[in-house]
Amino acid sequence: MNKINTTQIQEAVALLQAGELVALPTETVYGLGAHARHPGAIRKIFLAKERPFTHPLIVHLASAGQLSAWAREIPASALKLAQAFWPGPLTLILKKQPEVSELLTGGQDTIGLRIPAHPIAQALLQAFGEGIAAPSANRYTHLSPTTSEAVREELGTKVSCILEGGICEIGIESTIMDLSGEQPVILRPGMISAAQLEQVLGQPLGTPHKNLPRAPGMDKLHYAPETKVVLVEDLSYFLSYLDERDLPLALLTQQEPSTQLPGLHWIRMSKQPQQYAHDLYLTLRALDKQGFKKILIETLSLKPEWDAIRDRLEKASAA
Ligand code: TXA
Ligand code: MG
Repeated sequence: MNKINTTQIQEAVALLQAGELVALPTETVYGLGAHARHPGAIRKIFLAKERPFTHPLIVHLASAGQLSAWAREIPASALKLAQAFWPGPLTLILKKQPEVSELLTGGQDTIGLRIPAHPIAQALLQAFGEGIAAPSANRYTHLSPTTSEAVREELGTKVSCILEGGICEIGIESTIMDLSGEQPVILRPGMISAAQLEQVLGQPLGTPHKNLPRAPGMDKLHYAPETKVVLVEDLSYFLSYLDERDLPLALLTQQEPSTQLPGLHWIRMSKQPQQYAHDLYLTLRALDKQGFKKILIETLSLKPEWDAIRDRLEKASAA
């Protein structure tokens, strides 16, 4: 697997301390990391991603012992979730400590915090000892990268160092849980589900308000490939009316191929949500380079275990 190269970790730590950017693997997607207490370094993240300064960043920590350095008035619910799901693919939004830079929080009074599980992210965080601010390592509105090559494609020389960590195991971004208000609310669904969170919290989750401050992925055109993505509800109907002028097309479906039409690239996706999530961005990124007129994706089950993936499909197809 990914053996931890301590020399490389030391080099990455030195770069972070010098205010440079380091891309790091996490179990969800690759992050574009910077010293979270270094305003100059944080600014570089926004410039490299071409991301508006109003979009807050997640700060990654090595352990829950560091929470109080970043968050204040930490509710018991945060400790319960930390205990149950960290290290792992969960981000908590908490009220920030006054000295936490507003550059990180997009001017808000809250901060997103996460303890990632990937061994290389952990090794880096432990060796660095400070928080690492890291959004997904893609340009603004692009797909999140789930391999080091994808980071290179997205950011090229804008990042000083890319730590190799293989293919991200989960493949879509963390669940974001806002614990800064009256009721816990999911801002972005992820592979840790609402049911799992409710079970640990012992209380129902609230529904997100429409006017939440910069709720993640609320922008249209988030997590989208360049090739137009179209969701298809009724595949057999669609196929029976398919016009040759629309080809070549790529199709992501969970069904077995029912036609050999040349120019229709049929990709059979998993019926298991974990595997589907793992493969989604890898597949979209590969297809994006192949000159298809469109990427069609068959819509998914409405069962809650597919919530996070449906959310990403909706974003990928929102033009
Ligand atoms: O899995 C992940 O969460 C990955 C890995 C690298 O950890 N990170 C990630 O970061 O997806 P990013 O910046 O691409 O997405 C984080 C989202 C943003 O849409 C941002 O608006 C939201 O989290 N966010 C961060 N801090 C927030 C806050 N204080 N309030 C509301 N939303 C916040
Ligand atoms: Mg992102």
